[in-house]
Amino acid sequence: MSYLELNSLKKTYPNGVTAVKDIDLEIEKGEFVVLLGPSGCGKTTTLRMLAGLEEVTEGSIILDGKDITHLPPRQRDISMIFQSYAVWPHMTVAENIAYPLKLRKMDKQAIAAKVQEVAKICKIVDYLNRYPAQLSGGQRQRVAVARALAVNSKLSLMDEPLSNLDAKLRVSVRTFLKEIHRNTGATTIFVTHDQAEAMALADRIVVMNEGRIEQVGSTREIYNECESLFTVQFMGTPPANIQKVALASSQGRLVAAAGGGEGAMSLDLGDQSAFPGIERLMGEEVFLAVRPENIGIGEPNGINETSIEIVEPQGAYTILVTNVLGGEWKIMLEGDVDIRIGQKVSLEIDPGKVMLYDTQNKKRISLT
Ligand SMILES: Nc1ncnc2c1ncn2[C@@H]1O[C@H](COP(=O)(O)OP(=O)(O)O)[C@@H](O)[C@H]1O
Ligand SMILES: [Mg+2]
Repeated sequence: MSYLELNSLKKTYPNGVTAVKDIDLEIEKGEFVVLLGPSGCGKTTTLRMLAGLEEVTEGSIILDGKDITHLPPRQRDISMIFQSYAVWPHMTVAENIAYPLKLRKMDKQAIAAKVQEVAKICKIVDYLNRYPAQLSGGQRQRVAVARALAVNSKLSLMDEPLSNLDAKLRVSVRTFLKEIHRNTGATTIFVTHDQAEAMALADRIVVMNEGRIEQVGSTREIYNECESLFTVQFMGTPPANIQKVALASSQGRLVAAAGGGEGAMSLDLGDQSAFPGIERLMGEEVFLAVRPENIGIGEPNGINETSIEIVEPQGAYTILVTNVLGGEWKIMLEGDVDIRIGQKVSLEIDPGKVMLYDTQNKKRISLT
């Protein structure tokens, strides 16, 4: 039995909207799990059911061996941090951290010691006597984290806690959260729609779409082994190049054609031996997905020749835009690339990184 189990969880709101359709998830003690998905996919609803703030329509929640599905929030031993800094404005930082401990009837000395301890971890010792209005957004969010840490609950829930912070601060508080997790090992479920945030923080990512789980895995798996078209579209900046193509074989090479008809544009995906089991897909339509960083460029050599239409230098990398199979494709190269608009190149695609998806069920096609 896992530390936390969500069994066939479902939520239909009184207005008839089914926000969570069927969530099955097991989380181990100490894990940092990120629920990732677009706005409206049911992330907040899932967290609120865990916290007991929203009634569960169907299914069950087991925490540390105990069925908490219908327990009131207070009896669940779960803490929650929201997007808006839910710190009490009329209390100092120290009072904010101490308040939940007072409610739990902890004695005064123990409370004072705990406040010091978590303030140190969260690097807010110097602000203990300030009021929230005298703090920056990032500092306020650290207070919220300190307060959650102090109660030492069984489970920590965070709903987009960084989204009200500016870009730079978001990254620094993100690093801080990671450090906190390393030091405390608190079992955490963190919600975000930001894939970069999810990848940076998570032990495991749960990709959600329309009230269901699309895929669960490590950052590497979610990014490189996308099981569905939804996941491959959602993960990555710039996003993967995706195109509906027909597969064909030509002189031992796997070729993707789009547009149909004689002389239609085609893309050489590499030696067919790199795609064992591909024979059964010959002539079939599939979705082809290739990440921008898995395409290289070389001198024009007659294969996959195209001209570069746009060059976007980004300092550490350069994004090139070109037309492939009638669509606009992006290529991401490391560093500052010396290339002119209009320059002819040959695209080099890494066959091992090509992903194919079924046009009907939108799931990854497994070749072997
Ligand atoms: N209290 C509510 N009553 C009715 N529908 C709701 C309520 N809260 C959320 N929803 C709907 O449920 C779906 C999921 O919402 P939510 O869980 O907030 O998604 P997310 O956090 O992933 O953006 C959305 O369609 C939203 O409009
Ligand atoms: Mg939400």
